[in-house]
Amino acid sequence: MNIELSTFDKNFLKTLPGNEEVLLSDNGTYYTILCDKISAGVVGCVPSKLLDEGFVQIVLTPEFRNKGVLEIAEDMLAQKHNLKKLMATIKEDNIASVLSHKKACFAMIDDKEMKRLKDVGLLKDNEVRLEKKYFKFEAPHPNG
Ligand SMILES: CC(C)(COP(=O)(O)OP(=O)(O)OC[C@H]1O[C@@H](n2cnc3c(N)ncnc32)[C@H](O)[C@@H]1OP(=O)(O)O)[C@@H](O)C(=O)NCCC(=O)NCCS
Repeated sequence: MNIELSTFDKNFLKTLPGNEEVLLSDNGTYYTILCDKISAGVVGCVPSKLLDEGFVQIVLTPEFRNKGVLEIAEDMLAQKHNLKKLMATIKEDNIASVLSHKKACFAMIDDKEMKRLKDVGLLKDNEVRLEKKYFKFEAPHPNG
């Protein structure tokens, strides 16, 4: 399946079941996911304080769920924005999202950090945070 990130279409997003899980932010950048040229969902990221980290959001049309599209689309997003970390804040009862992010090599942050984020109000009681680190290729300096 050929997957591309294309121009965002807000009206298409509104038609997707589960679109309420994607909260559009003025600071965010969003894309329509095309699978073999068919609109299959929306993925986007909101930059965090650290410029090379971002919060990811995704929703897929029911026809394109359970096909592994999430991992490819989110990896493409990280690469396009040159991010070294993607973070996902997910409601703990959103089993599909937690499982699909784990399948895509996201890991739950440790309990201590999860508690700290909840204590300072950056995470709600019913939310969990998962993250995936990417290692950027740094070309060696020509003079060593
Ligand atoms: C979250 C979402 C993007 C996942 O995308 P996806 O492409 O279907 O995910 P994947 O195919 O990578 O993986 C889904 C996995 O979760 C499992 N799964 C899905 N729903 C499940 C459920 N209700 N209970 C248990 N497992 C479930 C699938 O079986 C699959 O695992 P498997 O491949 O081992 O069988 C999609 O479900 C969606 O659009 N949901 C609505 C919007 C949303 O919640 N977005 C996330 C906001 S944080």
